[in-house]
Amino acid sequence: MEFFDSHSHYNDEKFDEDRDKIIEETYKSGITKIVCAGYNIKSSLMSLELSKKNEFIYSICGISPNDIPQSEQELWKDIAEITKIVTQNKNKKLVAIGEIGLDYYWNKENKELQKQAFIKQIGLANKLNLPIVIHSRDASIDTIDIIKNYKVNKTGIFHCCQPNQEMVRQALELGYYISFAGPITFKNAKNSIDVVKMVPIEKILIETDSPYLSPEPNRGKRNDCRNVKFVAQKIADLKEISIEEVAKITYENTMKIFGI
Ligand code: NI
Repeated sequence: MEFFDSHSHYNDEKFDEDRDKIIEETYKSGITKIVCAGYNIKSSLMSLELSKKNEFIYSICGISPNDIPQSEQELWKDIAEITKIVTQNKNKKLVAIGEIGLDYYWNKENKELQKQAFIKQIGLANKLNLPIVIHSRDASIDTIDIIKNYKVNKTGIFHCCQPNQEMVRQALELGYYISFAGPITFKNAKNSIDVVKMVPIEKILIETDSPYLSPEPNRGKRNDCRNVKFVAQKIADLKEISIEEVAKITYENTMKIFGI
């Protein structure tokens, strides 16, 4: 059985001590493809570097809503920089622009700047003919609004999707994929379970978002890509199919949306 972890952060400093070892163990344990997601300039550069060094790692680059600079001027500087980086490094292993989007849970004060950064990076994805990976937290209405008004040619993925049925319904209608992470395994995950049930398996991706959000039974510990199996198992239980099928179908879905 092989798994594709569609979203992780081996570029995070929490892996500075043992990154190479964890990467090796990840592959050995059957996680034979992973995406390493950037969220600002530095982490995007590192995700590119990891994808160049490791055959099975793919990269995505972008400025996340939680990494928006203070001023508009600084934001344009960062956007120009990320544009330069992805244009210069455009290769088969750079598979999307992300993670990008809106986060009104952590940042309520700069909604306008978040929206501008999101829209600008959608333009970048379209220019490079890439899909996007969306981070949306407590911002479902504005997120849907933006992807409706600024159409992404290759669509994309709602990563670590929040259990918001209306948002998911609209995302599916717009042709997006839904990626589930550790929280669907938590004991209080009633809403998430309803959302997993409403998404057809052909539209589901699995991820860890490591080093955060470890699934049960490893909740609270540092997360790594090997734990994606627990997310797959939960989906198998909810969909009443085998984990082998979940592994296979989500693998194919991920290859398809990222054009691998
Ligand atoms: Ni992430």
